[in-house]
Amino acid sequence: MSEPLVLGIESSCDETGVGLVRGHTLLANEVASSVDLHVRFGGVVPEVASRAHLSALIPTFERAAAKADVDLADVDAIAVTAGPGLMGALVVGIAAAKAMSAYLGKPLYGVNHLVGHVAVDLLDHGPLPQPALALLVSGGHTSLLHVEDVATKITEIGSTIDDAAGEAYDKVARLLGLAYPGGPVIDRAAAEGDPSAIRFPRGLTARHDLEKHRFDFSFSGLKTAVARWVEQRRLDGRDVPVADVAASFQEAVADVLTAKTIDAAQHHGVDSILIGGGVAANSRLRTLLEERAAAAGFEVRRPRPALCTDNGAMIAAVGAEVVRAGVAPSGLGFSAHSGLP
Ligand code: KG4
Ligand code: ZN
Repeated sequence: MSEPLVLGIESSCDETGVGLVRGHTLLANEVASSVDLHVRFGGVVPEVASRAHLSALIPTFERAAAKADVDLADVDAIAVTAGPGLMGALVVGIAAAKAMSAYLGKPLYGVNHLVGHVAVDLLDHGPLPQPALALLVSGGHTSLLHVEDVATKITEIGSTIDDAAGEAYDKVARLLGLAYPGGPVIDRAAAEGDPSAIRFPRGLTARHDLEKHRFDFSFSGLKTAVARWVEQRRLDGRDVPVADVAASFQEAVADVLTAKTIDAAQHHGVDSILIGGGVAANSRLRTLLEERAAAAGFEVRRPRPALCTDNGAMIAAVGAEVVRAGVAPSGLGFSAHSGLP
């Protein structure tokens, strides 16, 4: 029998994503973003995002089905993001997925968005090495995870105690007068700058913090340090060297993320490191992790940048893994869980 055809639906934030996979093969991954509607607010407006999902979901599904050359009736299982995310945004995807499941009589799985960020690499590079250490870096989350089985057993071993890494990117972009979302804009600006121009602090690396917060992160002090530096410069009546600030900030983030990831991988005795989430698309994080992991003898698995940011294929990938693991379907009774851990 051929591998199951799994439909994945993602609507937790401002991207409407529909993915189709057959086993570990990616057939289609269509994303409609409402980001342009949020830019002038400097962040995602939940009500605007929900309405955009409502109008984008069916056309996005149709594009994905056409690209994969399949019909809705061919789908063997449906996976949808149950959380975490914006409540009003999540319910749009869940309602559509429940309707499709009921209509087709095919199993429905409500899955964790964050697991999607970890699982998605299997579509690029095949079965995940397990156990592995995963660095999950998105707009809402920054965590180190011990992945024993992506479908059934993931343990969080550390997380940010304040801002997420992506949030820090977005806030620093804003104070530099750059557009939202800040990550890709800072990444591009940093390419023209000197990463050693300004020595910004690395959060939670002071000796007294180390024991308790060895695998935790903090980015709010870094953001404040950048804000103070920029403010002082303006008070002095001098230009703000945006590219140098961007590159120096990016270096501080990549440095602390990679150092803690390698430390955690060593501590847990794994051979492989996975990265996922929007910030995993960051060019400096990708190269620095690759360099340091190679020096320490770890294999690194990095999904292509387009699979790092929110999409439906990552949810379909989790669907394929839970089907494979024989996990019971969620049925139609589950609800959106905006704070899903
Ligand atoms: O995973 P994601 O698409 O959505 C959430 O689940 O949050 O992550 C979005 C975050 C945003 O904060 C965005 O600024 C950041 O990922 N991001 C990046 C890059 N591309 C997206 N951060 C740094 N460098 C990038 N190239
Ligand atoms: Zn995400």
